[in-house]
Amino acid sequence: MATAHILVADDESGPRGLLRQLLAREGYEVAAVEDGEQALELLRERHFDLVITDLVMPRVDGLELLREVQRSGDATVCMAVTAHGSIESAIEAMRAGAFDYLTKPFTRNALLLQVERALEYGKLQSENRHLRREVRDKYKFANLIGDSPAMQRIYRIVGKVADSDATVLIEGESGTGKELLARAIHYNSRRADRPLVPINCGAIPKDLLESELFGHVKGAFTGATTSRAGRFELADGGTLFLDEVGEMSPDLQVKILRVLQEQEFERVGGTKTLHVDVRIIAATNKELEREVEAGRFREDLYYRLNVVPITVPPLRERSGDIPLLIHHFLEIQNERRGSRCRFTEEAIQALSNYPYPGNVRELENLVERLVVLADDPVIGVEELPPKIRNTPPHAATLPMNLPPEGLVLKEVLEELEHRLIDQALEMSGGVKSKAAKLLGLNRTTLVEKLRKRGLLEEEAKRPAPAPPAG
Ligand SMILES: Nc1ncnc2c1ncn2[C@@H]1O[C@H](COP(=O)(O)OP(=O)(O)OP(=O)(O)O)[C@@H](O)[C@H]1O
Ligand SMILES: [Mg+2]
Repeated sequence: MATAHILVADDESGPRGLLRQLLAREGYEVAAVEDGEQALELLRERHFDLVITDLVMPRVDGLELLREVQRSGDATVCMAVTAHGSIESAIEAMRAGAFDYLTKPFTRNALLLQVERALEYGKLQSENRHLRREVRDKYKFANLIGDSPAMQRIYRIVGKVADSDATVLIEGESGTGKELLARAIHYNSRRADRPLVPINCGAIPKDLLESELFGHVKGAFTGATTSRAGRFELADGGTLFLDEVGEMSPDLQVKILRVLQEQEFERVGGTKTLHVDVRIIAATNKELEREVEAGRFREDLYYRLNVVPITVPPLRERSGDIPLLIHHFLEIQNERRGSRCRFTEEAIQALSNYPYPGNVRELENLVERLVVLADDPVIGVEELPPKIRNTPPHAATLPMNLPPEGLVLKEVLEELEHRLIDQALEMSGGVKSKAAKLLGLNRTTLVEKLRKRGLLEEEAKRPAPAPPAG
């Protein structure tokens, strides 16, 4: 550990000199000042790991100095020096932000032990801070990959709502990145230093969900041997992520509605009303509006949740993001395994054509599997699973959103028509009347279209049918 920097503030030269001498002899870098004002001046100039301050000093006194350091948010630990027997002032010092206090007169050993402990604490604190910042950065937008118009729209919404306390409802198929998005919103909000508490309403047994959410008091039900805080309490000041919110039972929906309206609730079996300050982000892979229509989800709760709706489109509707995602996941895998795998252009093309029913999660797992199984660092089409190799080219490359560089509408529509016709023929086993029906065309129109594409050699060569006899 680098030499710790300690600042000593005491208006009496005796104790000040003693502290400076003892600490310097231990190898610490020590600066000593005569009052709080001088201390604050020095603190503005450079960083100190520890401040040891007397409480009674002229101009800015010790308590004020402690409060000021606390307010600055710097990673500086403070210790107060108090007169023997003055418990009152020790308590006051701790309240003002001191980590510990040293009672005068002190022994060398007591001093060094306490200083060491305070420095250790400071080190842990700054490590924690660092970790928290790292986690936060991890969920900044940097971790959300994709620059399709759909994703850009989502970034814009997230940027706008993150810092508000507005309730967000994220809808999207399984594996589209709803949870990742919820994290991005939380870690970009002013609640980022407070917890993000997730709860999966679909994964917890119905009769346990209520006590998971609201907590319970001792004896509330068989097995409740102690009182326990629920997720709402744990999320106080932060964000509660209600995952698979569509799975919640009707009676729980009523209770959640009340918390959303009043920000208050009781623990299961308890009578005391608890107040919390919690932001809600909900997610669902069902279309909640349909659930409301079907009478399975309360309409009033739906409107409470649906303040800011975000729909994450399935990956097949933003296939332009696929190459970026592949590179992202590839990088992660290579780093984790110390490998240097890459895909050929053709492999990336083939991977981009596949419709991914499991969305981004499926792509992520696929990249991992391919890297693990790779004999050669260059992964080609041959290495891809048959279902991906056999997906017809272009099947997913139609622009669903207008690309910024524009397009030629006639060509795109033609392409779309060809693809739908090919699919219809495939689905009907080549029977043209059936395929025509699937497309809402009559058979002659379909045949005409096929002929234009030169796909009807035989029929074209066939002589016109003879007029019916008779
Ligand atoms: N835009 C994205 N950029 C990078 N990784 C993504 C993106 N979207 C999803 N992922 C990754 O895909 C996986 C699935 O994402 P996530 O768990 O957020 O999906 P989900 O919509 O919550 O799925 P489910 O409905 O099944 O819970 C995660 O590992 C996540 O990191
Ligand atoms: Mg999820």
